[in-house]
Amino acid sequence: MVNTIPTISLNDGNTIPQLGFGVFQIAPKDTARAVGKALEVGYRHIDTAEMYGNEAEVGEAIRASGIDRGEVFVTSKLSNAAHRPDDARRAFDATLAALGMDYIDLFLIHWPLPTLYDGDFVSTWKVLEEFQRDGRARSIGVSNFQVPHLERLAAEAEIVPAVNQIEVHPYFGNEEVREYGRKHNILTEAWSPIAQGNVLGDPTVTDIAEQTGRTPAQVVLRWHVQRGDIIFPKSTTPSRIEENFQIFDFELDDAAMERITSLDRGEAGRQGAHPDTFDYVPA
Ligand SMILES: NC(=O)c1ccc[n+]([C@@H]2O[C@H](COP(=O)([O-])OP(=O)(O)OC[C@H]3O[C@@H](n4cnc5c(N)ncnc54)[C@H](OP(=O)(O)O)[C@@H]3O)[C@@H](O)[C@H]2O)c1
Repeated sequence: MVNTIPTISLNDGNTIPQLGFGVFQIAPKDTARAVGKALEVGYRHIDTAEMYGNEAEVGEAIRASGIDRGEVFVTSKLSNAAHRPDDARRAFDATLAALGMDYIDLFLIHWPLPTLYDGDFVSTWKVLEEFQRDGRARSIGVSNFQVPHLERLAAEAEIVPAVNQIEVHPYFGNEEVREYGRKHNILTEAWSPIAQGNVLGDPTVTDIAEQTGRTPAQVVLRWHVQRGDIIFPKSTTPSRIEENFQIFDFELDDAAMERITSLDRGEAGRQGAHPDTFDYVPA
């Protein structure tokens, strides 16, 4: 089997590579090197955010690679500090300027912040709709939206988000939100796909890794792609950046898939913040 990265169609007709490279918690000084390595290995999808503080270095690495801008799918996200419409417009301009790009492939509301801004993420979303209409955001989506947040957008906005980027890994299946996405044509992007490394020592995962002759990370990432989700594991370790890319030349059988799915701990497995209460706003 050849290791070819599938592209998936979004609900707006654009396509996205199912595997990308995430840059959360990569220091700006290390970002260009890590992204440069990922592009060299073959990744063509980079997931950053204004709040990661490394958009400029992502843009720099893409330019330095010599790869055409049109061949790399770039995602960024709106800062929690910029939900008011005029702030969101300024923040989007700043994101494009930092990346050094005149359009972005996918722009997301990073968190719904239902306890801030009078819970009005709908006005924020309508500003993202403007960015898609004016062509500067090819696709738009949300992140960390729970089902009631998505239902509100469905009732009050025009454009259905192309994706919802949420925490998903074997210990936290987040099935209710994934199910809403499946029903409404919103693709799930699974963040922290290997739970920041915390699922890799699980006996079920290591057992399947031994049986398949793959590493625990490859097994877990493969589980995600067979479920149809989009992933972008983060690493600053060159050998791991390569390892995480080699997941399209083997398959997990139904029994292995089921064993990994059954590791779900429900809410207890959540590692990151809960979207209903998360209210961090950068100074
Ligand atoms: N929308 C959101 O709110 C949100 C929240 C969190 C994350 N994200 C996105 O999702 C991306 C991925 O999530 P994440 O960065 O939280 O966690 P992750 O990808 O699940 O895990 C990254 C951690 O696992 C280690 N690692 C990576 N590959 C490995 C391998 N093959 N073997 C062993 N360890 C390995 C990395 O270490 P080294 O770097 O030291 O190699 C790093 O500590 C982020 O970068 C970001 O783009 C989005």
